[in-house]
Amino acid sequence: MSQPTSSSSSSMWGGRFSEATDAFVAEFTASVTFDKRLYRHDIMGSIAHATMLTRVGVLTVAERDLIINGLQQIQAEIEAGQFEWRIDLEDVHMNIEHRLTDRIGIAGKKLHTGRSRNDQVATDVRLYLRDAIDAIRVELKRLLTGLIDIAEREHATIMPGFTHLQTAQPVTFGHHMLAWFENLKRDDERLVDLRRRVNRLPLGAAALAGTTYPIDREYTAQLLGFDSVCLNSLDAVSDRDFAIEFCAAAALVMTHLSRFSEELVLWASAQFQFVNLPDRFCTGSSIMPQKKNPDVPELVRGKAGRVFGNLMSLLTLMKGQPLAYNKDNQEDKEPLFDAIDTVLGSLRAFADMVPALEPRREIMREAARRGFATATDLADYLVKKGVAFRDAHEIVGKAVGFGVKSGKDLAEMSLEELRQFSDVITDDVFGVLTLEGSVNARNHIGGTAPAQVKAACAQARIRIAG
Ligand code: ARG
Repeated sequence: MSQPTSSSSSSMWGGRFSEATDAFVAEFTASVTFDKRLYRHDIMGSIAHATMLTRVGVLTVAERDLIINGLQQIQAEIEAGQFEWRIDLEDVHMNIEHRLTDRIGIAGKKLHTGRSRNDQVATDVRLYLRDAIDAIRVELKRLLTGLIDIAEREHATIMPGFTHLQTAQPVTFGHHMLAWFENLKRDDERLVDLRRRVNRLPLGAAALAGTTYPIDREYTAQLLGFDSVCLNSLDAVSDRDFAIEFCAAAALVMTHLSRFSEELVLWASAQFQFVNLPDRFCTGSSIMPQKKNPDVPELVRGKAGRVFGNLMSLLTLMKGQPLAYNKDNQEDKEPLFDAIDTVLGSLRAFADMVPALEPRREIMREAARRGFATATDLADYLVKKGVAFRDAHEIVGKAVGFGVKSGKDLAEMSLEELRQFSDVITDDVFGVLTLEGSVNARNHIGGTAPAQVKAACAQARIRIAG
C-alpha cells in the first residue's frame, strides 16, 4: 500500500507545501485530542457518503464495500482502545481517513470525493448533538417522572410558600414539586423544537460552494436519518446556530436545576429541616464531625456557570466570522461537549436524587403555622363579609401585630381576641384559618389545593407520555 512518508506530505494537503508544518503549530492547530469523540458519527457519515457516491456511479460497489468494511474495522479498533490517534494528522477526520488508506489502499483515497472536511465536520457535530439531545431527554424524562411521583405522594403535605423568602401562604409540597416539573417540561419542549434544526444535512456543501459530482443529498440525508438537507452550501458549512441554540436551552436547564438546588440546600439545613437528603447524595467534612453537606445540589448550582460560559463562548466565537468556514469553528467543540456533559450529568444526579428526597411533614407544617401563613385567608374572609379589601388588609395587619406580641398564630386566638379587630368576625372564621382550609380553598386549575395537585399529576403523566 502506498504511504507517503516525508513529514511535510504526511498531511493530507502536503502537495502544495514546501516545508513541514512547525511542530508547535501542528500541535496548536490540531483538534484530535478533543474531536476524537466524534469518531462514531464521523464513520457513520462516511459510510453514508460512500453509499451515496456508489449509487450515483462515482464509486464502484467493490470500492464502497472496501470502504465500509475498513471503516467498521477502524471503529472496532477505536473501541478496543487499539487505535493510535496522531496529533500530526490534526483531527478525527484525517486520522480515520489516513488509517483507512493504510488498510485498504487506493479506495480509501476516494472516500473524500465530493466532500470537504468543512461539510464533514458540520455533519459529524450535528449527528453527535442529535444523539446527545436524545440521551439528555431520557434523563430529563426520568426526572420529570420522579417529580410527578413525589408530587402525587405529597399532594396534601402542607408547607409554607414563600415570597421574598418570607413565609407567604401555605402551599402543598406536591404543588411546589409540580412547579419544578413545569420549568423542566418547558426545557424538554425546547429540546424537541431545536432538535428539528439540528437534524439537517450539511454534506454536499463540500468546502463552501457545492460539488461538481452528481451527488444525491436527499439520499444521504435519508441514510443518516436527517429530516432535510441544508439549503445553502455557504450556510451549511458555516452555521453553528444549532449548537448555540442547544447551549441556550442547556443554560436554561441549568438555571432551573440551580434554583431547585438552592432550595434543597436551604431545606436540608438545620435551620429549615424541610427535607432530608439521603446520605448517598451527601458528603461529610474532614474536620467537623457533625457535618452532612448537600454536595450534589451545591455542585449542580455551581456547574450552571460553566454552561452559561459555554453559551457565551459560542456566541462570541461566531459573531465576527465572515462566510463561510473559518478555522475558528474548530473552537465550537469543547464548549458544546462540555455543555452536553454538564447538563447530562446534572440531570442524571437530579433524576436519581429527587425520588429519594424525604420531606419532613411535621416540620414544614409547623413552619407554615408559625409564619401567619393564613393571613390572606382572613382578609378574604372579611371581604366575603362585606369589608373592602384594603380595609380587610389593615384589619388583618393589626391582628398579626397582636399575634407577634402575644406569640399566637391567628388560628390560636380566641373569637373575642379576633373580634377586637372587626366585629364581622364570627365562629366560622376558624374554618378558614386552618392550613387545610387555606390550601383546599385554592381549588382551581393551577391552584395548590390537594385535589388540584392530584389532577395536575394525572395530566402531567399524560403530557410526558410517548
Ligand atoms: N478540525 C476541523 C474543525 O473542527 C475540521 C474542519 C477543517 N477544515 C479546514 N478547512 N481546515 O473545524
